[in-house]
Amino acid sequence: MHILITRHLPEAAPSALRAAGHTLTLNPHDRPLTPAELLDLSATADALLLMLTDKIDAQFLEKRPNLKAIANYAVGYNNIDIPACTARKIGVSNTPGVLTNATAEIAWTLLMAAARRAGEGERLVRTKTWAGWEPLQLLGMDVVGRTLGLIGAGRIGARVAKMAAGFDMKLLYHNRKPNPDMEALGAQFVPLNTLLALSDFISLHVPLSDATRHLLGPAQFKLMKPTAILINTARGPVIDEAALVAALQSKTIFAAGLDVYEHEPALHPGLYELDNAILLPHLGSATIETRNKMAHMAADNLLAMLAGKRPPNPVNPELWP
Ligand code: DGY
Repeated sequence: MHILITRHLPEAAPSALRAAGHTLTLNPHDRPLTPAELLDLSATADALLLMLTDKIDAQFLEKRPNLKAIANYAVGYNNIDIPACTARKIGVSNTPGVLTNATAEIAWTLLMAAARRAGEGERLVRTKTWAGWEPLQLLGMDVVGRTLGLIGAGRIGARVAKMAAGFDMKLLYHNRKPNPDMEALGAQFVPLNTLLALSDFISLHVPLSDATRHLLGPAQFKLMKPTAILINTARGPVIDEAALVAALQSKTIFAAGLDVYEHEPALHPGLYELDNAILLPHLGSATIETRNKMAHMAADNLLAMLAGKRPPNPVNPELWP
């Protein structure tokens, strides 16, 4: 069958798909495909191996009735209209589990960097403006013994919580329902507003949906401590980015560490200039090992779906009752 792979990937994915006898079309550019290119290159495709930057909506699916399967090269799948795929019996898969540690590590990278003002420090040294040690230079926030609030307690949120053990932190979490893994870590399940008011560090781990879009906006920032540090490795639109910029500018909160943005790759005006924001370019799963595992996983999922079987990681499992 014919598969379109929308970005250059670790070789594991194309190799496995070719070895199984499938024909591949690869994105000829080193950039995301435009919507028109995606439509054009998928003209005869039976399946797509997609990135989180590729948008698939009902209109697209309408024009591609030949599609049977979509493997998303990400754990999040807010880029795909899942009900529209299910209605057309198009199987969709994602890459859960293999990127849990890598994404939790990025959350901790941001947390530590924001708490200890590592971005500002690095800029001071790199711009050759550092005049030497000073008693009051770039004073940050202690991490050990503070309260960490996790919003969302799935695999990644729970792993971030587990990693807090070495820092003797008090753990709070807010989730759709209590998670036994979090309870086992001694984490306390609390309402969102309680978490916002009591946490020194707040880390987001919810998927993007209508229920979580702009979960944090002006009203929520007002509830946070002026010393609070907000970390986002989930999806940008979970935060009202304009309100975050205002909260950072007015020092309503101390700092933010962001790996994701509301309109990636664009940032809200003002965010680039803020010293109290640590800004990474969506690196959550970006380790060599993790991206290789994701490539294997995406290929395995496609191979199963194209063979008419339930994939190991289905997003719409109801298609394989
Ligand atoms: C995902 O897989 O959803 C992550 O955002 C990738 O970094």
